Amino acid sequence: MNPVPMLRLEGVGKSYGNATVMRGVTFDVAGGEFIVFVGPSGCGKSTLLRMICGLETVSTGRVEIEGKLANDIPAASRGLALVFQSYALYPHMTVRQNMAFGLENLRTPKAEIERRVAEAARMLRLESLLARRPTQLSGGQRQRVAIGRAIVREPRIFLFDEPLSNLDAELRVEMRAELADLHRRLAATMIYVTHDQVEAMTMADRIVVLRAGQVEQVGRPLDLYNHPRNRFVAGFIGSPRMNFLEGRVVESQGGWTSIEVEGVGTLRARGTLPVGAAASLGIRPEHVEAGPIESGEATPNLVHGQAAAIEQLGGSSFVRLASPAINLHIAGQTSVRFGDEVAASLPPDRLHLFDAEGQRVSP
Ligand SMILES: Nc1ncnc2c1ncn2[C@@H]1O[C@H](COP(=O)(O)OP(=O)(O)OP(=O)(O)O)[C@@H](O)[C@H]1O
Ligand SMILES: [Mg+2]
Repeated sequence: MNPVPMLRLEGVGKSYGNATVMRGVTFDVAGGEFIVFVGPSGCGKSTLLRMICGLETVSTGRVEIEGKLANDIPAASRGLALVFQSYALYPHMTVRQNMAFGLENLRTPKAEIERRVAEAARMLRLESLLARRPTQLSGGQRQRVAIGRAIVREPRIFLFDEPLSNLDAELRVEMRAELADLHRRLAATMIYVTHDQVEAMTMADRIVVLRAGQVEQVGRPLDLYNHPRNRFVAGFIGSPRMNFLEGRVVESQGGWTSIEVEGVGTLRARGTLPVGAAASLGIRPEHVEAGPIESGEATPNLVHGQAAAIEQLGGSSFVRLASPAINLHIAGQTSVRFGDEVAASLPPDRLHLFDAEGQRVSP
């Protein structure tokens, strides 16, 4: 028998008056999982998080926490803790008071409060800062206090809404690692919202990809990367972004399909589609193979283009071809120069085939 999930959403939807902003959201979160909600601005990530923690009512469907319907349980009684992007620390209180405040409201015994604050401060390396006020802290330290305030409550689920987006790039990477580490040490269930797909890839056990109030795909980071269910997920997950070529099916048999792409030629990919149908092909920049043009050789899926931009990063290089527009991500340094004619091979097994609606066709 499956254990009861920590959290279950079933057909969850949200409407404001006549406007439906979220519909049919269904997935489970197991105890101890690190789940990331990712999607473009306005897709409903914060709304979903707020419905889970009870700050927002659910218009349709069910929110269950540890097997119990939670739709009508007030936020304060759900045993969840939400950490915001804006930290929302009390400016007139010290770090210690900020962390203790929620527990004092719950009339937790004083000794217990002290124990929990000390423990959280130790975990978050805030011990030497306990007497300071928020204005006397750096952005990263403030973020740690906000997380500490959640930890002392020992919630069943931690909810984070873009908690690192106010930090500079370097600090963000550092805090990301700290959060992942904290997740391991606490063995806690965490749900983390971000619009940064790199954050999603690096932190999540499983990712929930949202678009326009609906779930596009739920899965482990590499499953989404290797088998995106549709063009949206394919384009959203992975950096730099997947390349797409549009065409029409000219042949399809034996599990292989040939697509005629205007100005490029015929490309072969796995999958079956009706002849004449519109289709698109996707390939990740790191899967395009660049080589010098060899005359005569009939390499499959060879595309010729002129190098329109080159970025040498030292450890790897980016080359952008013009017509067809294809980005290449090359390991190491490249000898390709601006204006060079480049032959790029698109390995058939690396191509993702999508139908006219953008649904995945390749296995
Ligand atoms: N109180 C409200 N009344 C009407 N519409 C709302 C309300 N709150 C949110 N929305 C709409 O719901 C949709 C989802 O908003 P939400 O804040 O959840 O998006 P998000 O994914 O968190 O975006 P971001 O990445 O910008 O934070 C948006 O289209 C938004 O305009
Ligand atoms: Mg938001």
